[in-house]
Amino acid sequence: MVRKDFTFIIIYVKEIAISISNLKKSYGKVIALKGISFDVYKGEIFALLGPNGAGKTTTLRILSGLTKPTSGEIFILGENLKERELFVKTQIGLVPQHVNLDLELTVEENLIIHGLLFKLSYSEIKRRITELLELASLTDRRKTRVKELSGGLKRRLLIIRALLHSPKILLLDEPTAGLDPHIRRKLWSFIKQIQAQGTTILLTTHYMEEAEILANRVAFIFAGNIVAIDTPTNFIKSLGQVALDIFINGEMFTRYYPTREEAERALSEFNKNYTAVTLRKVSLEDVFMKYTSERLS
Ligand SMILES: Nc1ncnc2c1ncn2[C@@H]1O[C@H](COP(=O)(O)OP(=O)(O)OP(=O)(O)O)[C@@H](O)[C@H]1O
Ligand SMILES: [Mg+2]
Repeated sequence: MVRKDFTFIIIYVKEIAISISNLKKSYGKVIALKGISFDVYKGEIFALLGPNGAGKTTTLRILSGLTKPTSGEIFILGENLKERELFVKTQIGLVPQHVNLDLELTVEENLIIHGLLFKLSYSEIKRRITELLELASLTDRRKTRVKELSGGLKRRLLIIRALLHSPKILLLDEPTAGLDPHIRRKLWSFIKQIQAQGTTILLTTHYMEEAEILANRVAFIFAGNIVAIDTPTNFIKSLGQVALDIFINGEMFTRYYPTREEAERALSEFNKNYTAVTLRKVSLEDVFMKYTSERLS
């Protein structure tokens, strides 16, 4: 007899681009990382979110080989960072937190120097420069001195400089810090475009909105510890979909509800005992506030 009721089970195995386990880093008495572990999947944008001094830059510097960890294991595209440092460096592009371009040189000259450091041939460097200037809409700035570029264009140049040697992984340390909202949005589209070309991206940011819009997954990092990892959607769902900000006697309280109806019902129970009230969608910032206040209380 032939059975017809069989079921197919399809299992997607996500390939890991970066694997970090129990990573620790001390600078003398300062413990910057207290044993963090996480994986970044190939092709995703993964955001490390955390306050000043949480350990974000330290993590990126270790991944790009600029700082040695105190202990822990790191695998990049399946290769052990400790054993295959040179190979790993060719697979990673780092965009530092602070602009470190040569301001007196032109856009093209900055890119050529980076290409030469990575031992690319001159013809390869020229080809990549043309391609990347196009991608960043910077073609007409090729001969411009970097000091004449706006903050947003400098950031874009930093990103394409990191991509010059065609790394599979891009590390972005606060890519939009200090930029106005229009320029930030343009950079977000640019980062999404880079992801669409197949690059895995690990970024750090203070901006919750940036992580919510860009990241496939987010990790909250506080004082050298990762406290939670999930998708922005799951984080938000874990609080509820609707937030009520209630102002009573000059203080604001926020409460979360699964639906608008439940939020409205709860509001009626306050019996107009408030000065103002706002009903809004829950955001990643609410999740961040929750984790921060848990840590501070
Ligand atoms: N070279 C260094 N020497 C000594 N301490 C350091 C060094 N670099 C970082 N630290 C310390 O390690 C901790 C983590 O710093 P890190 O720069 O990684 O934080 P961050 O999350 O990137 O912060 P920010 O959001 O301000 O950029 C901080 O306490 C910092 O003072
Ligand atoms: Mg930093």
